[in-house]
Parts: sequence; C-alpha cells; structure tokens
Amino acid sequence: MSSVHRPGRRSIFSPATAREREANFESYWLYQQGRDGEILEGAKDLSEKRKSLARLRANPVRTRRPVAEAFHRNYLTMRDDPRSLDRRTLLLTFLYKFARHEWIGISAAWDATPTLARAKYLIDKISRYHLAEEFCHMRLFQEMFRTFGLEGVEWGPLPRRTKRLYGVFARLPGPLVAPPAFVSELMGLTVYLRLDAMLDDIVGDEPDVRDRIRELLRAIMTDELSHVGERRNFMGPLGLRAARLMVRPMFRAFFGGIPEAPLLFDTRQMRQDAVAFDYGTIGPDVLGVSWVPSYCIARP
Ligand SMILES: [Fe+2]
Ligand SMILES: [Fe+2]
Repeated sequence: MSSVHRPGRRSIFSPATAREREANFESYWLYQQGRDGEILEGAKDLSEKRKSLARLRANPVRTRRPVAEAFHRNYLTMRDDPRSLDRRTLLLTFLYKFARHEWIGISAAWDATPTLARAKYLIDKISRYHLAEEFCHMRLFQEMFRTFGLEGVEWGPLPRRTKRLYGVFARLPGPLVAPPAFVSELMGLTVYLRLDAMLDDIVGDEPDVRDRIRELLRAIMTDELSHVGERRNFMGPLGLRAARLMVRPMFRAFFGGIPEAPLLFDTRQMRQDAVAFDYGTIGPDVLGVSWVPSYCIARP
C-alpha cells in the first residue's frame, strides 16, 4: 500500500447522525448486490465471486518451493520452535490459524442469521451477504494454500465449546455485538495490509506466486475494507466509544494466542494503526472498488 497520505479522508471513528447511517446502509446494500451478484444460500456462495474464483482456478499458479512438511507439523498447533521456521512457513501457519478463527465465527453466525428470503430488515440482508462474502474468503484462502503447494487444507471440526460461545455471541442484541464486531473487522484489515506489505520480502523470489497471492489477498482486502465501514455504520456514539476501548484488549487477546504473530508483525504498531485508521492510507486500486461511509469522506 502507498504510504502517501491522501487528503479528503476522515477517521473511521468520525461521528455520524442516525439519518446518515440509514442512508449509508441503503448505499451499502446496493454496493454489495452490484459487487456480489446473487446469493447462493445452499453453497454459502455469491454468483459473481464464484465466477472470479473459477477464473483463477482455471489459470493456476504453483510454487516451485512447497513448504508441505513444516506446514503440516505446525499449522494446527506449533510443534517446532517458531523462531526456527522460515518466513514462508510462518506466514502460512499464521494464515491458517487466522482463517480458521474467522471460519469458526462465521459458521456459528451463519446458523444464527435469517436467510435472505426470510430477512425482514435491511440490516439482516446486509448481514447475510456479509457472511456469504466471508465464506468466499475461506475459498480464497484455500486457493492461497494451493498456490503454495498445499492441497485440500480444511478448517477442521468446530470445537464444541467455541461453537457454543460464538453461538451465544451471535444471538446477543445488536448494540452489544456491534463494537466487537467492528473491532474484529478492523483487526482483520490491519493484518491484510501488513501481509500485503511483506509479500515482496517473503515470496519476491517467485514473482508469479507473489502476484497471485497478492491478487487473492486484495480480493479479500477489498471486501474487508468495505466491512470496516459497514460495521462502523452499525454504531452510534456510545458504541463508537466502546469500540475504541476494545481495540487494545482485543488485539492483545487475539495476537497473544498465535505464536507466529510476534515473529511476523509489530502488533503494537498495528494496534496504533487501527485506532488511527482512515482511508487515506489505502491504495487507489483497492479503494476504487471498495465502499466507504459517506461521513468518512471530508466534504470540500
Ligand atoms: Fe473476514
Ligand atoms: Fe469481514
């Protein structure tokens, strides 16, 4: 991403009126349908995303340096000393843990959300599409693993306790869920931005692999950027304040549970980036096809 800060963008924590938020939900819903096409409930898929994945899979890129053994030894739980692993392996085992965590959350939420046909409110439709997008990301992650020579990477069974916990979370009243849901999207985005920035370093020796991974990553990042704005739009002033307070403990809890994280990232800096986030740091290629709340763009 470009480090040049473009003017005209306001903080993600900018205030918004109830009317602005309502109008933004309308605009977001139009954006989602235009970008994703039809929802395919049974497959947890979206028609446009299905087409773009098929295009990528028809034109596969594969590494000449697979990491299979070290990955399989460490992806579920870290068995080796993580400091002894090369950065490719670290990147992939981190990515697996990160994606699996998402997969658990979205699987529990999917079961607690009405289908599009049964959705009464606009926010229910938005949430259903949002979850389908997340499932599409899981397929893009699997495509990344394939690019690195790892076929058939699955997310494994859902631990029963975690499933129950997420199920409870998904059924909590909206205003309680909104701040942590927003912070986890923001956390995801900071991870994608960092990964994007380190690709040259880690896979620069195989430019075709690097470019394919970047393409997959940016497809996810574009959605995640729009999710950050969408989840921002769920919060009033109180929720916004709560979200700010949650950034620190949520970053700590999340990264603290992943041994690869401190070896790959400066998580403290990422936390500071999250609190200070505005759209000025996002490159035009991603920003141009994503969605931003109207109140996060400064009026001239
Ligand atoms: Fe996600
Ligand atoms: Fe997301």
